[in-house]
Amino acid sequence: MTTQVATARLSLEGVEYEFPIVEGTEGEKAIDISQLRAKTGHITIDPGYGNTGACKSSITFIDGEKGILSYRGYPIDELAARVDFIEVCHLLIFGHLPDRAELDHFKHDLMHHSLIHEEMKKFFEGYPPSAHPMAILSAMVASLSAYYPERNDDRDEKLNIIRLLAKLKTIAAFSYKKSIGQPYVYPRNDLSYCGDFLHMMFAVPAEPYKVSPVLEHALNLLLVLHADHEQNCSTSTVRMVGSSGANLFASIAAGLCALWGPLHGGANQEVLEMLEAIHRDGSDYQKYVEMAKRKDSGFRLFGFGHRVYKSLDPRANILKHTADRVLDELGHKDPLLDIARELEAVALNDSYFIERKLYPNVDFYSGIIYRAMGIPTNMFTVMFALGRLPGWLAQWKEMKRDPANRINRPRQIYTGENRRAIPTFEQR
Ligand code: ACO
Repeated sequence: MTTQVATARLSLEGVEYEFPIVEGTEGEKAIDISQLRAKTGHITIDPGYGNTGACKSSITFIDGEKGILSYRGYPIDELAARVDFIEVCHLLIFGHLPDRAELDHFKHDLMHHSLIHEEMKKFFEGYPPSAHPMAILSAMVASLSAYYPERNDDRDEKLNIIRLLAKLKTIAAFSYKKSIGQPYVYPRNDLSYCGDFLHMMFAVPAEPYKVSPVLEHALNLLLVLHADHEQNCSTSTVRMVGSSGANLFASIAAGLCALWGPLHGGANQEVLEMLEAIHRDGSDYQKYVEMAKRKDSGFRLFGFGHRVYKSLDPRANILKHTADRVLDELGHKDPLLDIARELEAVALNDSYFIERKLYPNVDFYSGIIYRAMGIPTNMFTVMFALGRLPGWLAQWKEMKRDPANRINRPRQIYTGENRRAIPTFEQR
């Protein structure tokens, strides 16, 4: 809920205009310019939307200056310590933490919708083994709409949300099995969500597979930390595509494509490849810090900086300690973790990074944990997608119910040629 707290006055070409100022529940203020063009004939220019609130939302709150992140009012560190990913999914999508009966019911639904249609296995066969799993994942999610059409009622919507939540992990694990040429492992109803995913990833028909509690716990934590992050690039894409009336699967497939980019969810893969490159190059991290500072080098320190966080990303803080613990518990010594720590220390003491408020983000440590878990680098962004799915679903659902929602359609300032005549061939 927002309240109107005051009025902003705009003086434009000698005329004064008034616009309402609205305030959110955490005191965030915004000038409501929805009538700006109608009243003044002007639009605003805000490349990258850094100052544009595209919606009102009651799902996730971030204070980037203070390093605060909460889902539905619960701080991320408390959620990470006390509830599991499925409870977080319920919290985000349905608005409250489930009671015991609701949780049992929700888990039962998720278990019983985790198979994909057998015909869809043929789709996987059409891809070359080198296909990036994100290409497969996004195509498969869009294809689900062919099997589960939406008739626009609430029951279908809820069922499709459950289906997608249940099936994404199956599709993700199948895309991995496809890439390594192993037979697909079907979901099991007796395992937890995370345990089942690990089983589908790592079990082979010839051997019994026992889910490691350390891996299950680490995966659960990683998914909780990634579950939502308000109006980031992929979530805004989901909302934008959904605003046209596109179905749930099409909207989420678009979000997956947005997440894939190296400046967004693709950064976790880039971080690990960067740490490997530094390792191969004799671990001279100072050289890479210097390179990141030179604009003409075209190199950025992946895993550093964030559009919203201008102090430590609270998720990175949790993951930093988790990386230590998981590697210890698995008895895994990873030189890349040492390089990551050194790189972080050098960057955090460097004036370039201090002045620009560039701190490690969630992707900086997640890749090291995934690597210790045996998850290959090209699956990292898929792991991010598994975590982010409940956030996308919750935001899509909220968007659909928002009376202020209308098709997203930004404007532009045209900078091209003025009207002119088409030249003849001789004149060109
Ligand atoms: N390494 C070196 N310099 C950087 C970095 C970096 N990782 N990030 C930002 N900068 C510099 C920019 O060059 C710019 O410098 P300038 O003011 O001298 O021109 C300044 O810091 C501000 O950077 P912008 O790119 O304008 O910040 P923006 O908010 O647009 O971008 C982003 C944020 C995309 C995350 C950026 O910091 C980045 O590219 N980081 C690396 C990729 C990454 O880790 N992405 C994951 C983000 S978290 C997530 O999506 C889950």
